Amino acid sequence: MKQFVCNTKIISGENALDALKTLNARKVMVVTDPFFMENGTAAAIAQRTGAAQISYFDKVAPDPSVTLAAEGTGALKAFQPDTLIALGGGSAMDCAKAMAYFSGTDATFVAIPTTSGSGSEVTDFAILTHNGVKHPLVDSRLRPDLAILEASLLEKLPKTLVADTGFDAISHALEAFVALDANAVTDALAKDAFATVLALLPASYGGNTAVRPQIHLASTMAGMAFTQAGLGLCHAIAHALGGAFHLPHGRLNAMLLPAVIECNAHAAADRYARIAAAAGLGGSAETIAVRNLKNALVRLRRELHLPDTLAQAGISPAVVRNRTKELVDAALADPCCATNPMKVEDFMVRRVLGAVAGHG
Ligand SMILES: NC(=O)c1ccc[n+]([C@@H]2O[C@H](COP(=O)([O-])OP(=O)(O)OC[C@H]3O[C@@H](n4cnc5c(N)ncnc54)[C@H](O)[C@@H]3O)[C@@H](O)[C@H]2O)c1
Ligand SMILES: [Fe+2]
Repeated sequence: MKQFVCNTKIISGENALDALKTLNARKVMVVTDPFFMENGTAAAIAQRTGAAQISYFDKVAPDPSVTLAAEGTGALKAFQPDTLIALGGGSAMDCAKAMAYFSGTDATFVAIPTTSGSGSEVTDFAILTHNGVKHPLVDSRLRPDLAILEASLLEKLPKTLVADTGFDAISHALEAFVALDANAVTDALAKDAFATVLALLPASYGGNTAVRPQIHLASTMAGMAFTQAGLGLCHAIAHALGGAFHLPHGRLNAMLLPAVIECNAHAAADRYARIAAAAGLGGSAETIAVRNLKNALVRLRRELHLPDTLAQAGISPAVVRNRTKELVDAALADPCCATNPMKVEDFMVRRVLGAVAGHG
């Protein structure tokens, strides 16, 4: 049996934020990070709803912790908004999703992503960190009611964030396409999202803001694909490394993806070849297409000045060696392993970690 569900309403295009006026909100809570609080964006967004009462939970930091989500849950229960707005990247959206989930609120949940990567605005996932381990919460009740894709919020996106988050979107599309729960609908979303982000990311990185709305929508499409199809080994290891070393999630995916393709290629060469062909990277044989795919990702990583290895990202190989058992255990326990195209074994995680550790 195959199924596809997306009950998040998605608003994009010019003046997308006008959708806030249609909510008839009276009591709004905005969950965001200090950056959007201090530059006035959070207040401007809240005021656009026309609500009489507004409260802010603005303490979100990258990779939100269980403790922070619990504090936010308390604030949400105390204020009892009729509308909850998450404004920010995956971290702000995930914190707000967890707050809504744990408080049991029936407030309308609006997600306004300010990065084009996590796809959290349409997914059943919220990733919380506890004691150096990232825990994906997975539940359909985490899915926002409304996602507003407002391109003007991306105009000042710093280059490093364009690169990191763009690679997150690429990894969502690619992992969803080869995942065990993929179906024809998720395939169409994943293929289109992959080809779009791969083609346009260098221009966005170079400062061309005109391409950002397309990348933004593609990132949401990749989120719609992976929340149904599942992810795989790349995300399982990225979560383990992100919990241990607190490196940006997309940067870790950029490092891991070519090594994961290599590892999974026996089981999924035909699928990798199909998505490579969709992005204009096909070849006369599956093995050539898979090689083209890996090479294109390595080229893009370098074009965006992202590190190839953990050593280049500041984590010494000795540290990785010493923590290998803990990293392997965390990756094997991650729910993303369940939909990897081949059963994830201990040796596969070790092989990928060996490939990305680097020298130093
Ligand atoms: N729930 C999901 O489905 C899902 C999927 C993938 C990743 N994630 C999680 O999302 C998190 C990563 O999210 P992210 O990559 O979007 O980054 P983020 O939310 O952690 O933000 C990183 C930094 O970018 C800044 N920032 C965000 N938007 C900006 C803008 N427009 N201009 C300037 N600065 C801006 C933030 O203030 C923050 O300091 C990780 O914790 C990851 O595990 C969740
Ligand atoms: Fe991701």
